[in-house]
Amino acid sequence: MATYEPKNILITGAAGFIASHVANRLVRKYPHYKIVVLDKLDYCSSLKNLNPSRPSPNFKFVKGDIASADLVNYLLITESIDTIMHFAAQTHVDNSFGNSFEFTKNNIYGTHVLLEACKVTGQIRRFIHVSTDEVYGETDEDAVVGNHEASQLLPTNPYSATKAGAEMLVMAYGRSYGLPVITTRGNNVYGPNQFPEKLIPKFILLAMRGLPLPIHGDGSNVRSYLYCEDVAEAFEVVLHKGEVGHVYNIGTVKERRVIDVAKDICKLFGLDTEKVIRFVENRPFNDQRYFLDDQKLKRLGWAERTPWEEGLKKTIEWYTTNPDYWGDVTGALLPHPRMLMTPGVDERHNWTEEIKSLSSGVEASTTAPATSTQSTADALQKPPYKFLIYGRTGWIGGLLGKICDKQGIPYEYGKGRLEERSQLLEDIRNVKPTHVFNAAGVTGRPNVDWCETHKQDTIRTNVVGTLNLADVCREQGLLMINYATGCIFEYDAKHPEGSGIGFKEEDTPNFTGSFYSKTKAMVSSLLFFLLSIDFLLLLQCFIKPDNFCALWLHIAWRLISVMLIMVQVEELLRDYDNVCTLRVRMPISSDLSNPRNFITKIARYDKVVNIPNSMTILDELLPISIEMAKRDCRGIWNFTNPGVVSHNEILEMYKKYINPEFKWTNFTLEEQAKVIVAPRSNNELDASKLKAEFPELLSIKDSLIKYVFEPNRRVPAN
Ligand SMILES: NC(=O)c1ccc[n+]([C@@H]2O[C@H](COP(=O)([O-])OP(=O)(O)OC[C@H]3O[C@@H](n4cnc5c(N)ncnc54)[C@H](O)[C@@H]3O)[C@@H](O)[C@H]2O)c1
Repeated sequence: MATYEPKNILITGAAGFIASHVANRLVRKYPHYKIVVLDKLDYCSSLKNLNPSRPSPNFKFVKGDIASADLVNYLLITESIDTIMHFAAQTHVDNSFGNSFEFTKNNIYGTHVLLEACKVTGQIRRFIHVSTDEVYGETDEDAVVGNHEASQLLPTNPYSATKAGAEMLVMAYGRSYGLPVITTRGNNVYGPNQFPEKLIPKFILLAMRGLPLPIHGDGSNVRSYLYCEDVAEAFEVVLHKGEVGHVYNIGTVKERRVIDVAKDICKLFGLDTEKVIRFVENRPFNDQRYFLDDQKLKRLGWAERTPWEEGLKKTIEWYTTNPDYWGDVTGALLPHPRMLMTPGVDERHNWTEEIKSLSSGVEASTTAPATSTQSTADALQKPPYKFLIYGRTGWIGGLLGKICDKQGIPYEYGKGRLEERSQLLEDIRNVKPTHVFNAAGVTGRPNVDWCETHKQDTIRTNVVGTLNLADVCREQGLLMINYATGCIFEYDAKHPEGSGIGFKEEDTPNFTGSFYSKTKAMVSSLLFFLLSIDFLLLLQCFIKPDNFCALWLHIAWRLISVMLIMVQVEELLRDYDNVCTLRVRMPISSDLSNPRNFITKIARYDKVVNIPNSMTILDELLPISIEMAKRDCRGIWNFTNPGVVSHNEILEMYKKYINPEFKWTNFTLEEQAKVIVAPRSNNELDASKLKAEFPELLSIKDSLIKYVFEPNRRVPAN
């Protein structure tokens, strides 16, 4: 099957829900595609939806209407557009019952303008038209076979009729003018970024506010829901593998009744469905079911990945973390919010009163006292997370705080010392965290050589402190995210340099350089440190003999605990099922002024070795670690971007993006050994476990470009 390679893509409607996920995905995954976005920024859109793409050089936003022929022609020509992905539309069925002319204007006329511009400019190699499952009309309740792509179009409401009308024009331009068109027809989509007039975000926001969930009719209507990232992936597949002239359903055979969606949301918020669900007047016409045959797209290699429970949880997490993202959406939360986009509607309309009247009805019809509804609402408005972070003055700890600020996650830095159990318990009592992050490890300043000369400090924090914190967290039922080191392996015969075979999470560490010497140092120094304290106590006991018995018990306990530590920390942590150990390697961030940044370091050394290694791009991976906490990930994870990059490759990029005059020389490992105190581990970690959990994770080289070099670019791009 031939794969299509676009160059310059115009995505319409990308400040809206689905297309923003598609645009962000394509910008991120294909830096060599230019993505131009056209959106008129209607009531249901937000530029924030495109925040992930906005810093990228391959992204451009244009505010404008698809119905403006001049603008569209101008864009196609000046941006050399060869591909159009057309999402822009009025999309809310409820609105279409109120003001259907807007739907004809945007959905049919707008599409017609785009098609005509393609005909006139004659340069389009793919026109992907985004349509909906609703064009097939209602599926029989007892049908066992879904609508396939050749089924008849029988739309039942003004929205689906305009979408079907647009499809007819698309088909005609394909036939009459040979325009290379592909059409998609999708089931319902849900996930972050969706304007809350649609069912799922609306129910979530209402549940967050402790308000009733209005169900049209009896809630027996059935819908199929796909998670937005799965749908974005489907568009990626259609773009590259879709055949011209074909239609593809983007569907799932899993169906759920609207009432069950409401119940699932209530369950996740701990609400009593009997009290919260409220049946309201049905739409003028409400299709019972849209059932799709999903096989054709599957044959192109796409499959739904996100189970409903997981997608719904992620969506709720997003809305509860971003409760004010859409501003005052009281009007959208009404049972039939058709007036939002209707011209001439009095904007001072008192939505709040209308909603209040709905909830007062519910209170009257249930036995719940008013105060309990209020307290449920208050409880639900509380953010679901609170992080306790250790390592405020450290690099990773500092960055974690900044990310939490940005994401609106409440957090506090731990005040206690990790070795002091009572202080940790006090922190937990005060902060009442949902998750604990340990970024307090001593890594050495200016580099790891420092640890060799400050062994006791290193051990106290890295070994005793980490285990102590893990133990306290387990006792308190808390998940601890632990930033550990990935420098516990070195290339060997089974994992040779350049082979692409990385060390997996379950492999036994083989780095006999500083790690084992550190482990040895760990034990001997700890012994020395603890026993010297005991020796002092002993001396004291000779002065005060009545303390002898307690002292011997104390020394015996010391010896046992020291024996326990004679094993690697990571091995010990394996026994803590409340710990998520993240193996960080050679961390890099976009802050090139930070002396701890690996790039900053090697750009300042006179000579560097040149060895490929796995590395961790903090700008990409620290937010992922927060997501891992939310997903309750546990166990050991290689926490690096997939693949390896060598010193020289990084310095080449540095030269290309930052300083064309930059020069460096390499030395051999033997030469390096003479100038450093601690031998360095060089290895490739197998990041496939992390990639499977986060398919969007970039390879090390792509991540370096996107997160580090592009944002710091000083050399203009040609
Ligand atoms: N959301 C779903 O469940 C679903 C399911 C199947 C198909 N679809 C289709 O997918 C597409 C996107 O849906 P969505 O839910 O992301 O929509 P949305 O309402 O979130 O976004 C639509 C976007 O189009 C823009 N827009 C509207 N008219 C425009 C115009 N004339 N010029 C420029 N921009 C304009 C809006 O500003 C908005 O940003 C639509 O074509 C819809 O019919 C959606």
